[in-house]
Amino acid sequence: MESNDFIEKLIAEMTLEEKAAQMLQVPVSVVGMDEAREWARKGVGSFLNVIGDDMREIQRVVCEESRLKIPAVFGIDAVHGHCLNRRATIFPSQLAMAASFDRELVEKIGRVTATEVATEGIQWTFSPILCLARDPRWGRTNETFGEDKYLAGELGVAIIKGYQGEDLKDGSSVLACAKHFIGYGEATGARDSYDTEITFRKIRDEFLPPFRKAVDAGCATIMTAYGSIDGTPLTINDKALRGLLRDELGFDGFLITDWDTVNSLIRRQRVCDNHGDASRLAAAAGNDMIMCSTEFYDAIVQQVREGKLQESVLDEAVRHILTIKLRQGLWEKPLKTGIPGSIGCDAHHEVALKAARESVVLLSNNGVLPVRNDRKIRKIAVIGPNADDIRAQYGDWTYFTHPVPGRETEPERPYVTLLEGVKEQLQDTDIKVVYSYGCSVNRRFYYKGNYPDTGAFMEQVYADNDHDAEFYKEMPYVNEAAAVARESDLVILALGDNYTQAGEYTDRADLGLSGMQGALLRVLSTLHVPIVTVLISSKPLAIPDVVKKSDAVICAFNGGMYSGRAVAEAIFGKLNPRGRLPISFPVMTGQVPVYYNQLPGWHEGRYVDCPAEPLFAFGEGLSYTWYEYSGLKFDKETKTVSVDVKNTGDMDGVEVVQVYVNDVVSSVMTAVKNLAAFCTVDLKAGEQKTVELKLDDEAFSIIRPDETSVIEPGEFIIMAGHSSKDEDQIKISVEF
Ligand code: BGC
Repeated sequence: MESNDFIEKLIAEMTLEEKAAQMLQVPVSVVGMDEAREWARKGVGSFLNVIGDDMREIQRVVCEESRLKIPAVFGIDAVHGHCLNRRATIFPSQLAMAASFDRELVEKIGRVTATEVATEGIQWTFSPILCLARDPRWGRTNETFGEDKYLAGELGVAIIKGYQGEDLKDGSSVLACAKHFIGYGEATGARDSYDTEITFRKIRDEFLPPFRKAVDAGCATIMTAYGSIDGTPLTINDKALRGLLRDELGFDGFLITDWDTVNSLIRRQRVCDNHGDASRLAAAAGNDMIMCSTEFYDAIVQQVREGKLQESVLDEAVRHILTIKLRQGLWEKPLKTGIPGSIGCDAHHEVALKAARESVVLLSNNGVLPVRNDRKIRKIAVIGPNADDIRAQYGDWTYFTHPVPGRETEPERPYVTLLEGVKEQLQDTDIKVVYSYGCSVNRRFYYKGNYPDTGAFMEQVYADNDHDAEFYKEMPYVNEAAAVARESDLVILALGDNYTQAGEYTDRADLGLSGMQGALLRVLSTLHVPIVTVLISSKPLAIPDVVKKSDAVICAFNGGMYSGRAVAEAIFGKLNPRGRLPISFPVMTGQVPVYYNQLPGWHEGRYVDCPAEPLFAFGEGLSYTWYEYSGLKFDKETKTVSVDVKNTGDMDGVEVVQVYVNDVVSSVMTAVKNLAAFCTVDLKAGEQKTVELKLDDEAFSIIRPDETSVIEPGEFIIMAGHSSKDEDQIKISVEF
């Protein structure tokens, strides 16, 4: 049977209620199994947050007890590995993996994750996030590929390819979901889900490109953003959803709302005062599937019956959903098969280790690193709240932070914390390792109660950085750490944030070190023992003091299960660090935004009470060798850059070659530079290679005030080098 005929016949057979049900995604973690079974009998199109036997039971009910037996598609947030399953392989966060600038690696991560998700039977992951994190106060910074549209687009495509494979029918392929459409990361004040003060011109210029690439790569699903643009919630933003996504980008998969956003239209955003209007507007704007807002089911049926909405709107949505289900082969195989035994298998762990290694970013080093076993160092103190805390190392979206009901949440081995990694590296030496906790990342308190708007019960952990009496109760731990450090020849200090400071509901107004961490650092720095600080955090923190008081700083972000081993390998020179920052670090919170590709035109370009430059810029990252750039050329016909890169040090390394473009004069203001291409190149000590990189038209085009895209003739500067910083680049001028 021709596939379209099959779907059209099915749609013709469906009742209005069955169409509404097909458009619904029910959260099993919220409604429980009994209610989930009821929905399954009604023929609900999708469920989320359920794994294992419960999921299989729901699919059985859908396939045996619903009238039309259209298999449901199950979704899960497998955003850095299939992390809600505690036996799964846990990768670095998206932000950490972005530090690799390695498309191939990111595709592999996608493939491994898909295989593990599929082995569970699940067919869909809500990943990747293609929002840009240009204001790191945003709680979800860790979930992004960083601040740059080009990097986010390239790595987004890589992970989508990994998730979806060659064929959606493949037993180990799952649907990808590019999210959140659109501009979500730009919420004013970095307040998650808040209004966004951007124009559609800006959207096309900055935020659409990664989504365009995702659509071109065949991403099967896209998720709408929580927020609003200039007062219009994305959930009902016809111009964004139908105009940009469907009509212009030609998206042919299905579009799902974010969590309960149809109800948010009533309860939070207050653009509707009843479920009928909210449901109608969400469907009319182009959402095909409604996450969680189960009131939609009755409300939309009534809207159609009352003639307020054409039934064809529902038909169109159902068509999008069924087409993807058909492409997945759900009727033949209602659950994915994956590869039995592959969840958390050795081969997958190897990829996690590789990813951890590639995401290590060396930010500063006065020569203390790499640490050699040359008898000068007899004892090493590993200190700090994040030195031996796997939860902090993992960050958000794991079985700790989002436990699937009924599952245990104790840490599951194997994993390697920094303390364990250091011990591993020193096991065959006579260097002694001592450990001291030092202080907590923050003082925490728990809130148990009901959400003010939905009435739903919540249990939330809040971070509290207040300097009150309670807080100073930690002083004995600081003193103990100082005593341990005083007896040692080197301090490895693990600072940062933890999962209570990352994710939804956890935007930060202060990006400084929280809790007693600053005090701990100050005390340790008076002891004249060299300090190597390792930042285990979900995002850039404003840490000028850490840089000043440390002899070296390594940024690991949330590096996944083997991050502790990878960082320790870097400390002891077994690994030559190669990671680069996918996001800039501010000197202080008030300096944000500090993303590298700003528009020119600010009087003096700085605040009077803060340096002009960020603490660390996009693309920065040291290694134990140096790279020299020369011979930069550009071929206008093929738009290809070529540049010679030489490893001038005495250690083999991997350089991330970065190419930036500036449009010198344009009819609208353009960024001082934009990343236009990158690649990695292996260089042995002393070796030189010529690297060629092809640039897209987008590298030279601008978006005019009328929202059209054009390449304006004139001069362009092409820059190539080690980071986004002027001093790290060589440049040439070209005319078009
Ligand atoms: C998040 C999404 C996520 C969804 C389902 C929402 O709160 O914004 O990114 O996929 O929940 O868990």
